[in-house]
Amino acid sequence: MADIRGFVFDAYGTLFDIHSVVEAGRAVTDDPMALSLLWRQKQLEYTWLRALMGRYEDFWRVTEAALRFALRKLDLRATEAQVRGLMNAYLSLACFPEVKGALQRLQGRPVAILSNGAPAMLQAAVASSGLSGLIQHVISVDAVKTYKPSPAVYALAPDALGVPAASLLFVSSNAWDVAGAKAFGYQVCWCNRAKAPAEELGVSADAVVARLDQIPT
Ligand code: LAC
Repeated sequence: MADIRGFVFDAYGTLFDIHSVVEAGRAVTDDPMALSLLWRQKQLEYTWLRALMGRYEDFWRVTEAALRFALRKLDLRATEAQVRGLMNAYLSLACFPEVKGALQRLQGRPVAILSNGAPAMLQAAVASSGLSGLIQHVISVDAVKTYKPSPAVYALAPDALGVPAASLLFVSSNAWDVAGAKAFGYQVCWCNRAKAPAEELGVSADAVVARLDQIPT
């Protein structure tokens, strides 16, 4: 990797621990992790399906639709107040423990988020996790009304930062997102927190780390 002039981060699963909603899930199930995993899987599927259908709805609505599906699929009953409680957990997600230190280390070059998240969701999560001073650009797919891995989304960060993708390091824990960003033209670092196998999508990461404080600079 060479000439890295800025850093672009995925949000959910990379900076923010989406499975920190597990606590809120205890109100409706004995197995909140199963609910969290299915909720996340459906959330991503709905972004891909809506992008292909040309039927964008923002990530807040997609996330709620995915939650309602997951509850039904797992045969769980939740009151409206419990659904709201689970959704609101998305506005105060915890970041992973090493994130603050890792972002501090990268200051001096622009640091951005490029995420499927709706603008208000991202602002809330950045503020609640105490990352505000460490991220200079919070960029949402909402600007182009489609979802990753559309090239229209990956084009947003080079435009906002005024730096070509080839000089930006894109960092994501989602292997499919890493593939999308690499295909677009970024240098990419896969934060493989889950020790997952690499995707078979014909592109590979320039660097693989287990945590964000290992990002090569
Ligand atoms: C995001 C999803 C992919 O933040 O995690 O864009």
